[in-house]
Amino acid sequence: MASKITQESLDLWTRSDHYTNSFLLRPDPVLDAVVQNTMDKGVDHEIAVSPAQGKFLNLILLSIGAKRVLEVGSLGGYSAIWMACALPDDGEVVTLELDELHAQVIAENVKNAGLSSKVKVIVGPAHESMLAMQPEPQAPFDFVFIDADKESATKYFIEAKRLLRKGGVIIVDNVGQGWPVDPSNTQPGIEGARELLRYIKDDTEVEATVIHTVGAKGFDGFLYAICK
Ligand code: SAH
Ligand code: DHB
Ligand code: MG
Repeated sequence: MASKITQESLDLWTRSDHYTNSFLLRPDPVLDAVVQNTMDKGVDHEIAVSPAQGKFLNLILLSIGAKRVLEVGSLGGYSAIWMACALPDDGEVVTLELDELHAQVIAENVKNAGLSSKVKVIVGPAHESMLAMQPEPQAPFDFVFIDADKESATKYFIEAKRLLRKGGVIIVDNVGQGWPVDPSNTQPGIEGARELLRYIKDDTEVEATVIHTVGAKGFDGFLYAICK
């Protein structure tokens, strides 16, 4: 299916993304240093959210007045840093990461960005970390960003709901990765997205939509859900 998209059309979308960013995203030496350090340490920054998507997450947190954020899948902390920048001084991003090397790189990046007090990394399999967490009545999460192994999206979604406040928001990344989303596509990651869609269809506790995306990261999609 990917053969239906030419490299030329992907390049044009990347150019479009860079063009719009040149008006809407300010140069940010701190974020540039995060990206550079991540690549220097051999971590594949290409799979992080794009700058425009990072800002999108940041703006959503500002829109909902978020204070506490949970992230599932941190890589080098790029999305976590975009999100931490939207939080008040006493806000926090708790980010869950399996890989020890990634966790070390996040710690460096967060320190260099001056955000150590706002980003907490929990190392280990994210589902186990989530199961061990209790909803905090005084400080529930306002927002969860799910962006780890795509096969486990539904498991993460279920725990995210448990840990969120009423009215809280969940975004799941990569629900259009390896498109098309329909069952003609047998990649395991996209089956994870279809499992989540089937789960949400019968779930009376959320309202959700998917917005398919295109840009510097190719074709993909975000699922956006609100806990009722
Ligand atoms: N959110 C990041 C990108 C995350 S990439 C950003 O946009 O900057 C996906 C990450 O999920 C990788 O770092 C990978 O190591 C992690 N991951 C994969 N399986 C996991 C699991 N079972 N538990 C926790 N993290 C996992
Ligand atoms: C991959 C993971 C992501 O979270 C993403 O946004 C893009 C690619 C990957 O594992 O290939
Ligand atoms: Mg992703």
